[in-house]
Amino acid sequence: MGSENLLIDVRDNVALLTINRPKVLNALDADVLVDLLEAFRELERDQAVRVVILTGSGQKAFVAGADIAEMTGLNQPQALAFARMGQKLMNFIGTMAKPVIAAVNGFALGGGLELALACDFVYASENAKLGLPEVTLGVMPGFGGTQKLGRLIGRNRANEMIFTGRILNAVEAKEWGLVNAVFPSGELVAKTLETAGKIAGQGLLGVAHAKQAIKNGLDMAEPDGMDYEAVLFASLFATADQKEGMHAFLDKRKAAFTGA
Ligand code: CAA
Repeated sequence: MGSENLLIDVRDNVALLTINRPKVLNALDADVLVDLLEAFRELERDQAVRVVILTGSGQKAFVAGADIAEMTGLNQPQALAFARMGQKLMNFIGTMAKPVIAAVNGFALGGGLELALACDFVYASENAKLGLPEVTLGVMPGFGGTQKLGRLIGRNRANEMIFTGRILNAVEAKEWGLVNAVFPSGELVAKTLETAGKIAGQGLLGVAHAKQAIKNGLDMAEPDGMDYEAVLFASLFATADQKEGMHAFLDKRKAAFTGA
């Protein structure tokens, strides 16, 4: 698994997926998008993996955006294909059963922030800088930023960020609800692994169904979302993990979930 653009390390049911183009601050060109989609597909299939952490190589950047050198020469149909390729990756991350945590270790700009927004939640290092500066290049976000940012932090703040290209530091991003927690650079991956480990110890299907309910529920009217939740909740009562989890509680022991 992996490619020269990506590093993948799986241990204790957690996959650490690192985008590895530090010379261009891990910018996303078409090859990286294809490699990332393939890597996520493999991690979704890999039974040893329960949680994925996505980060960038080096101290400076998570991802500094879509690759500007590659985008410069695109014509309109090519730009449409490029946006759709990026969105396909973002959609896969959002709909895969396993949680994906972004560990933002520096710049997360443009397509880099959109990648973080596609993840289930975001931790950041103290030196993180997050923004959608596409208008400074004469374009606009194309990998989901205009759709996801407003839903996450509210329309007015999203408008301000996208119209001005304003880049937030880690503390501002936390205040605005873009990141859940901020850690010193040297501790970011360890802290993210700690949280991923907690998730990996839970019932896999319960976590997967909760991800599905939250993600799809955000696009539903509340009564439809409640109905959807009840159906997913009930489906877990046909699983071994539900029996194990509840019996373990009653037996006063730690549950040993199998993901079945
Ligand atoms: N694409 C391609 N190359 C990039 C890049 C990008 N998005 N970001 C940085 N690089 C390259 C630089 O060209 C430079 O390469 P060279 O060493 O060959 O010159 C190298 O990475 C290091 O970058 P800098 O020298 O610029 O580093 P810096 O510390 O001075 O600045 C920065 C860092 C502020 C992040 C700056 O690199 C920058 O502004 N990058 C572009 C950020 C951006 O505009 N992102 C949005 C892209 S558009 C997009 O993503 C569209 C979409 O929604 C799909």
